[in-house]
Amino acid sequence: MRRFLTALLAAAALGAFGVVWSEEQAAEPAPAAEAAAPAATPMPMEALTLAGNAEAGAKIFAEGKGEAPPCMSCHGEKGLGDDNMGTPRLAGQGFVYLRKQLYEFAADRRTDTTMGVMNGIARALSDQDKADISAYEASIREDVLASASNLEEIKAAGAVPVGEKHLGKGIVLYGIPERNVPACTSCHQYNGRGALPVYPSIGGQRYVYLVNQLKMWRDGSRANDPLAQMRAVAGKLSDEDIYNVAAYLTSAPPISIGNSRQPHQPEPAAAGVAH
Ligand code: HEC
Ligand code: HEC
Repeated sequence: MRRFLTALLAAAALGAFGVVWSEEQAAEPAPAAEAAAPAATPMPMEALTLAGNAEAGAKIFAEGKGEAPPCMSCHGEKGLGDDNMGTPRLAGQGFVYLRKQLYEFAADRRTDTTMGVMNGIARALSDQDKADISAYEASIREDVLASASNLEEIKAAGAVPVGEKHLGKGIVLYGIPERNVPACTSCHQYNGRGALPVYPSIGGQRYVYLVNQLKMWRDGSRANDPLAQMRAVAGKLSDEDIYNVAAYLTSAPPISIGNSRQPHQPEPAAAGVAH
């Protein structure tokens, strides 16, 4: 634990150093307050203990709230995502992970380069809204296959190349030992079903979204991963590898042969999510 904390602090310090030590600032010192590096986490401490109300979240999801449009209009009626828009499945994703993403979009620690909308939308949501909507999305129980992308359709459309499931399966379950690529399951659990609260579910995620995120982790345009874990993994993947793992993951079942039980992964009680 101690070693982990030290590593975390070191990572935070390095992050801060990297931001402060840019060429621009070295040449022209900016006022200290404005130049301050972003905090280690953009989520205020008080927000950590806010319980989410899934019913209130369902209302925002369907109707929007204030400046925030209905989430449903892009993420689908049941939050299963959409390959044509490049939106992710949110249904059944972990509460803590979802809420973290909303704070990071709001603080521009993560940028939506696909449609350019999520940063503004996240800023329009209050702390309570963020907890409510994350609780709602985490509570949606839909089969993974319900959001499996139609790879034939994507292939026919021709905008995004489609990989081979059987090649992706090997990487997801065993990694690529000769290139030091770890198995995705070593962090994301069996078939990418998620290891909450830190490791999101990636099995049953939309194909186009998976491809986009893996390329963004690889080129560093998404850099909100704790300890740069995903950047290290994706940095070793070729385009082919990315298309192959995404092809396998989008319809990867969360249970293994002979074991029909998906382990219960309770999240903090403060989440107010009924499992
Ligand atoms: C106009 C379309 C649009 C609307 C409306 C929209 N989103 Fe999104 N959302 C996106 C896109 C596109 C992405 C993927 C961004 C990327 O590629 O990095 C995304 C990503 C996300 C993610 C990241 C999920 C993950 O797995 O990391 C969350 C969380 C999210 N949206 C929540 C919401 C919520 C909550 C609402 C409603 C208040 C909403 N979105 C409304 C387009 C939309
Ligand atoms: C060392 C641990 C680790 C390994 C191994 C790992 N990941 Fe991840 N991954 C993470 C973490 C941590 C996050 C969450 C980052 C965040 O909080 O935004 C993540 C997030 C992701 C996301 C974004 C999910 C979303 O909803 O936006 C994708 C896609 C992903 N990983 C794919 C993979 C694939 C494919 C592999 C195997 C080739 C893999 N990961 C291996 C740690 C890991």
